[in-house]
Formats: sequence, structure tokens, C-alpha cells
Amino acid sequence: MCGIVGYVGPRQSQAILLAGLSRLEYRGYDSAGIAVIDGDGSLDMRKRAGKLQVLRDDLVGHPMTDGTTGIGHTRWATHGGPTDANAHPHLADDDKLAVIHNGIIENFGELRAELDGHPFTSETDTEVAAVLLGREYAGNGGDLVAAFRAVVARLEGAFTLLAMHQDHPGLVVGARRNSPLVIGLGEGENFLGSDVAAFVEHTRNALAIGQDQIVAITPAGVEVTDFFGAPVEVEPFEVTWDADAADKGGWSSFMAKEVSEEPEAVANTLRGRIRDGAVAIPELEGLDDLFRDISRVIVVACGTAAYAGMVAKYAVEQWARVPVDVELAHEFRYRDPVIGPDTLVVSISQSGETMDTLMAVKYARERGAKTLSICNTQGATIPRESDAIVYTHAGPEVAVASTKAFVAQITALYLLALHIGQVRGAIAPDEVAAQIEEFEAVPGKIRRILETEQERIEQFAYWMADTRSVLFLGRHVGYPIALEGALKLKELAYIHAEGFAAGELKHGPIALIEPGQPVFVLVPSPRHSALLHAKVVSNIEEIRARGARVIAVAEEGDAAVLPKADEVLRIPLAGPLFEPLLSVVPLHIFAMGLSTAKGLDVDQPRNLAKSVTVE
Ligand code: F6R
Repeated sequence: MCGIVGYVGPRQSQAILLAGLSRLEYRGYDSAGIAVIDGDGSLDMRKRAGKLQVLRDDLVGHPMTDGTTGIGHTRWATHGGPTDANAHPHLADDDKLAVIHNGIIENFGELRAELDGHPFTSETDTEVAAVLLGREYAGNGGDLVAAFRAVVARLEGAFTLLAMHQDHPGLVVGARRNSPLVIGLGEGENFLGSDVAAFVEHTRNALAIGQDQIVAITPAGVEVTDFFGAPVEVEPFEVTWDADAADKGGWSSFMAKEVSEEPEAVANTLRGRIRDGAVAIPELEGLDDLFRDISRVIVVACGTAAYAGMVAKYAVEQWARVPVDVELAHEFRYRDPVIGPDTLVVSISQSGETMDTLMAVKYARERGAKTLSICNTQGATIPRESDAIVYTHAGPEVAVASTKAFVAQITALYLLALHIGQVRGAIAPDEVAAQIEEFEAVPGKIRRILETEQERIEQFAYWMADTRSVLFLGRHVGYPIALEGALKLKELAYIHAEGFAAGELKHGPIALIEPGQPVFVLVPSPRHSALLHAKVVSNIEEIRARGARVIAVAEEGDAAVLPKADEVLRIPLAGPLFEPLLSVVPLHIFAMGLSTAKGLDVDQPRNLAKSVTVE
């Protein structure tokens, strides 16, 4: 939600800000703006509603003076609609001061009332912070950092705030509370960004800023303090992502690229975590106490990440013999969950910034639970709030809809399940070895689906472009995959889609079936459970009898589904718990294909943002 970039150094900043914003645009794309302090020491600003390209076009048509200090913002609207006026930056102090913001200032109404009479130009909470900062600055004799400190101490809610003033060229100040901000360290230049994508093409040396901290960057250095001005130590890290990894690289969309990277997402997440036929996760070395005495695991996550958790429940229970509950993170802390030191709360988040998930983790910690985070983004907030981290190595995911991160999350969770099983002695070594063998074959199998089925599925999606509703059915680990298939379709193709546990159908949803209704059915392998397979085939019969058009996702060689389905999408043979890593791939391709067939923006679906940093 909202992408933020800041630059100070010897170079002209406009191009750097725009490039940073284009890498952050996945965070929000309602409007975009930049402000720079130019060579004459005056501040210039340009902002436009719409995607970043609208701003770019405007700057080409009406260039603005460049400068070596600048801030940029791409917005996902919260307070106030996506208009030019509500876009950031917001100016104050006679347009000499520019402020950008990500998050929600919860006490903005109160603060705005205090500024009664001020001629506000927008409906945003950010402008209130800008005006307050302008007043504080004017009142303290022109100390920007001190004024900034005084203002952020008064703000409630979640925010990353950046400010610069034309009387201080070469200085950008930033603050964060419950919202992300990282520093990029260059040679004679420094950067700020919502995440490392903002500056990875310029530097891989980064610093993660902690909660309630303020940073001042100049070309010469970086100073981080707490909200009261006391210096604090910050944690340096090296960015492992390549700048190229966040580029489209010739693909028609980021999503197309990211789906093609699903095999590598699994392989890279496995790499370095298997030794001598056993799971050995370096990040978890010396942390056996986190797992030994727990009596339950609670997974907290949202959306697709929660579905990864639902898949992993089967693996953790089977391999580690610990009961698992999967909770939507935004529901978790609003009841009175039974948790304590014997509970391991596992959070899953691609961005590591999802506010709902972050709040659930904090709540769990306050209640004395152990916390472990599965995350894809270095320097993100959720891992920093957790006792342990297992990173997924999917590489940067830019398309708003999660694809490669999903398979990487399942991979990391399965590794964790085997690890917990090993620590607790719940799984025999030869069983671990057998699962690892299955695991290592997964990337090749996903690649085969992409090679053999992708074109056919895309063609099929094209024929279905007018479809108004699609249902998805699955059982066992196929159930969360049905939910994932439906979510992707809603999100990308804007059509009604529902996922159901196949057994639940006759308890209500079967009333939805009418002639021609497309239904995807995830068919479990008959080799693993003839019973489960037979039940799903019966479910197919039930819906076909009512006129449904059945699209089965079934393993190669499963002949029983052929006469019963209108279409069969094939996946290679795999162990029972590994089927989801394969069966989700056709569903990702289908959603992407249908969205493309409808002429929609696959990477940036309407109303959404990738990193949801508001509750
Ligand atoms: C759907 C999707 C979302 C995210 C959810 C959590 O395609 O991408 O449902 O999975 O918003 O995001 P993270 O994983 O960043 O916490």
C-alpha cells in the first residue's frame, strides 16, 4: 500500500525516483507524484491521478526542473479518492516543504480540527501531517529533524513518513511505525524505500529501520534515532535480489514471468536446506526449543498465504504430529484465542508487511506464544517481530496476485513440517528421505506442466472469456487449492468464483449448479487413496447430472475421469501431499489467461495493492 522512495546524492533525482516508483508500483497505483529540490534551491512538485505512466507522460509534456534531492510516491487511496489533489507529495510552509506518507494516521481528524481554518487542498490525512510539520518547523527556527520528531511523536496509527524542505537541500528525513522503510547505502548517495526494490539497481547495501525510528539521510551519511532523538543501532543486510529479477525481461506481464518462475521458486527455497537425506534449515539451528515443547501450531496469514497455510496443515499434522489451526490473521486477535508458551504461531507473508498479519504476530508474542515467520522479503517488518524466520526464496514478486510466492510458501512450510518432525522424533529418517526425494522432483514436474499444458489452458481460457461464474471443488489438500483457484479468478478476471470442499457441495452450494456452469474439480490421485478418488469422481457425477461443465485437474494416466469431464488438465504423478504444488499451476495459468482474454491488466488488478499495510 503506497510505495515510497527518497534520494540524496550527486545525481539528478527525477529518473532515480521514477525508476524506483516503477519497481514499487505494485504497492499501489491510484496516483503518483514526485518532488525535487532543484539547483536553485527551490522545491518543485508534480503529481497525477492514475498509474505512474500518467505522471511520466505529464513530465515529458511539461518537464520540471531536476534536482539532486527528491522524494516520490505511488498511492493506494485510503483517505480521499484517487484524484490529483489527493495524490502525494503534499506541500506546506508556502510550498517549501514536501511530505509523502504510507499508512493511516488514525488521529488525523483530531489533528485537523486543531488546524481549523487552514485551507486544506486535499482530503488526506497526509496533508494534516505536512501542515503540522510546516508549523512546527516555522516555530522552532528551522530545524527540520527536530520538527519532524515532534510531529511524528503526535501521530497515531501506522505510517511511513518522508519529508524534505527546500532550505535543506541534501536532506531527506523519514520515520516509520508499523509500516515499512529501508535505507539503501550508496557511495556519496543514499536512498530510502518502502522496500529494497526501490533502490536495488543502485546498491545492495541496506539497513533495516526498526519500529518507531527516525532516519535522516544526506549524501555523506545516515543517522537513525528513536522518536526522542536517541541514536539507535540498525541492522545492515545485503540485498540478495538482482535488479534484473524485478524486471519484466521480455515477458508480456510480470505475472507471466512469475508463473514461469514457479519451478525455481520451489528449487531455490529448497536449496541449502537439505543435508545427508535430512532437512537442515540453517536459520533454525540452535532453535529446537521453539519446537520441542509445543502442543499446537497456529498459522496466521491472509488471502493466498492463508491457503498455503491450509495446505501445510496436512503436512505438519502428518509429519510432525502437532495439531494445526489456520486462522485468517485479521480475525485472530479480535477474539480471545487460547495461546501461550506451548503455542507456535507461524505467520506467512510474501511481503512481510501485511498489517493484519503483523498485528496477529505482535498479539501472539504479547500472549507469550513462540513466533516463526515465513517471508519472502528481506528487511520486512514481520520477520523482525518474530523469534525465527524461514525465508522463501521466490525472488521479488511484482504482479499483485501471488503465484510463485505461493508455491515457495508451501515449500518452506513443508520443510518446516519435516524439521519439526525431526526435532520431536515424530518422523522416521527414511520417511524424511522419501519426502525429500518427492520434493526434489517437484520443480521438474512444474516445468513439465508449463511446457505441455500452458498453451492449451490459455486457449481454453480464451474460449471462456464470457463466463460469468466459475466454481472450484477439491478435497483434502485439493480444498485450499480450490480456494486459491477461485481467489485468483475473482482478483484477475473480475468474475464470480467460489471454491468449495467437494464434500460440502451437497450441503448447499450444489443449488448453484445450472446447465453450463463451469466447475473445476481437483481430482486426487487414485494411487494414494482409491476411496478419496472415488468420492471426488462421485461429486463429478453429481454436478454433471445437473448440467455442469466439468474441467478436471487430474494426474496423468487417471483414466476414470476421462469419460466424466468435458476437459482434463493433466499434472504429473506426485506424492499425496505434493499434488497441490502441481495442481495449482494450471489454475494460475487459467486465471491469467482469462484476465488477458478479457483485456484486463493482469499485473495490477483494480482496487488492489500488493502489500496491504492497513488493517
Ligand atoms: C492474492 C494475494 C493476496 C495475498 C495477501 C497476503 O493473489 O496475493 O491474497 O496473498 O494479501 O499478502 P502477504 O503474503 O504479502 O502477506
